[in-house]
Amino acid sequence: MGQNTQLCDIGFIGLGVMGKNLTMNLVDNGYKVAVFDLDYHKIEAVVAQDQYEIETYGNDPDKSTSSPRVIPCSSYTELLSKLSSPHLIILSVPAGEPVDDVCAKLIDAGIKADDIVVDTGNSLWTDTVAREKRFESKFLFFSTAVSGGEIGARFGPSLMPSGDPYAWTRIKPVWQAIAAKVDPKTGKPIERFEPGNPVKEGESCASYIGPNGAGHYVKMVHNGIEYADMQLICEAYHVMRTALHMTPAEIAKIFRQWNQGVLDSYLIAISAEVLEHVDSESQLPLVDIILDKAGQKGTGLWTAMSSLELGSPAPTISQAVFARALSGLKAERVHAAKILPGPVIHELSSKEKQDVIQSIHDALYCSKICAYAQGFQLMNTAAAEYGWELDFAEIAKIWRAGCIIRAVFLQSITEAYQRDEQLANLLVDPFFAEQIKTYQGNWRKAISFATLNGIPCGAFSSALAYYDSYRLDVLPANLLQGQRDFFGAHAFERVGKPSGKRFHVAWNEPNRPVEKL
Ligand code: 6PG
Repeated sequence: MGQNTQLCDIGFIGLGVMGKNLTMNLVDNGYKVAVFDLDYHKIEAVVAQDQYEIETYGNDPDKSTSSPRVIPCSSYTELLSKLSSPHLIILSVPAGEPVDDVCAKLIDAGIKADDIVVDTGNSLWTDTVAREKRFESKFLFFSTAVSGGEIGARFGPSLMPSGDPYAWTRIKPVWQAIAAKVDPKTGKPIERFEPGNPVKEGESCASYIGPNGAGHYVKMVHNGIEYADMQLICEAYHVMRTALHMTPAEIAKIFRQWNQGVLDSYLIAISAEVLEHVDSESQLPLVDIILDKAGQKGTGLWTAMSSLELGSPAPTISQAVFARALSGLKAERVHAAKILPGPVIHELSSKEKQDVIQSIHDALYCSKICAYAQGFQLMNTAAAEYGWELDFAEIAKIWRAGCIIRAVFLQSITEAYQRDEQLANLLVDPFFAEQIKTYQGNWRKAISFATLNGIPCGAFSSALAYYDSYRLDVLPANLLQGQRDFFGAHAFERVGKPSGKRFHVAWNEPNRPVEKL
C-alpha cells in the first residue's frame, strides 16, 4: 500500500458498491480520501481501482502527478490520524444499526466536537433526527441522501443534504463538485461517464434541503415516487404484452419512441433496455425468465406509512407497494390462476392496436403527473408538520439529473413551483391542469380497456381516482359522516354553518331531531 504523509481531505467508511464509487467520484474531483472498511478486501479493491485509473486516465485534475489519491487505513484511529482537521468523514454503510456502530467506534477513536460525520445511506429520517441529537456533544452528525445507484455514485448522483447549516457550508463545495449536473438552458442532464473527466459545468444537483432529517424525508418520498413510476411503466408493459400480444422487443421499441417526448426519463430508458435483452442461456427475452416476484427494501413502504400518518393521500405510491406485495404471493397466484376466470381477450385490428398504445401512453403520462403531485403534496404536509421550509422548485431541480426518477418532466415541475412557490398541488398548476385536460380522455380509455381485458392496472386507476377525487367539490363523505353519526354519534359539520360547529341527529328518537353540540 502506498505511503503518503500529506493529510487527506476526507475520510470514507464503507466501501460497498456505492461507497467505492462515491470515493472514486471524490478523487476524480481532486479530493484525497482516506478509506476504511471492516472488510480489508474492499479497501484493497478501491486502492487498486485508484491505481488503475491513475495509470489509465492520468491523475485528475491536472494529470501531472501519480501519487495515490486513495489512502488505505486499517482502523478508525488510523483513519482519523490521516485526516486534516476538522475532520470530514463520509459513511456509506447499511441503514440502521451499522450507522450507530460506526459512530460509536468513531467516538472511541477520538473524534472531536467540530468534526463532521455524514450518513449517505437510505436511513429512516426519524433515525437521522435522533442521531443528530444523540451525537450533538460528540461531533456534528449530518445526513445526505444519495440517489442514482452505482453509476450515479461514480459519475454524478443527486444529493439531498440536511442537518446543521454550518456543517453544510463545509460540505457544500464537495457535494456540488461530485453531484450530477444539469444544462441550465435545456434543464437536461449533462452526462459524461468517463473516469478522470468529471462534468464540471452546469447546475449541480446538490441543494441543502433543511434541518435534521429533512433530506432523508425528501429522499424517502423520491423513492415512493420511484415505486409509483416503476409500477406505472410495468402496467403499461402488461397491457401491451397481454392484451395486445406484443413481444418484449416490440414494447421496447414503443418505450424508445415514448422516450423522445413528455415521458423521456431514465426509468423508461432502462425499461426498454431490460425488455430488449435476450438471456444468453435460454435465448429467451430476459424479462420472461425473471421471476415475477418484486423485492423491496422499505422506502416505498415508509412513504406510504407517512402519507397515512399525516393524512396526505398518496394512493398511487401505496398501490405500488401493494402491487409488489401481491406479486410476492406467487404460489397463491399460480393456484388461483387455475380457478378464477377472467374475461376473454379479443384480437384487435392494427388501427385499434395503435389507438390503445396511444391511450396507454397518455394514461402513463397523466398517472405520472398524479404520482408526483401526491409526492410533492406529502412533502408539503410534512414540512408544515415538522417545521421545515422546503423549496419545492429546488427539490424538483436536483431531481432533474443523477437520480433514479430523473426525467424531462421534472423541468416542468421546477417551472410550476417557480411560478407559484405556495402551489397547493401540482394538478392545479396551469400547465399540468392543461396537460390532464388534453389527455384525460385517453387515460380513461386505457383504464377501461385494461379492466375489460382483465389486466390489473391499480396504479393507473388509483391515480385517476385521486385526480377525480381532488377535482370534485362534493364527495360522498357526506353520507359517510351520516353513517358515523348514526352508529357512533360522531357528529358532523353542516353545509352553510361555520366550520367546527358540530351537529348530531338523535337517531333513536321518533322524529330524529338535530342537536347542536
Ligand atoms: C436511488 C434508489 C436506491 C435503491 C432503493 C430502492 O434513488 O438510487 O432509490 O436508493 O434502489 O433502495 O430499493 P427497493 O426497490 O429495493 O426498495
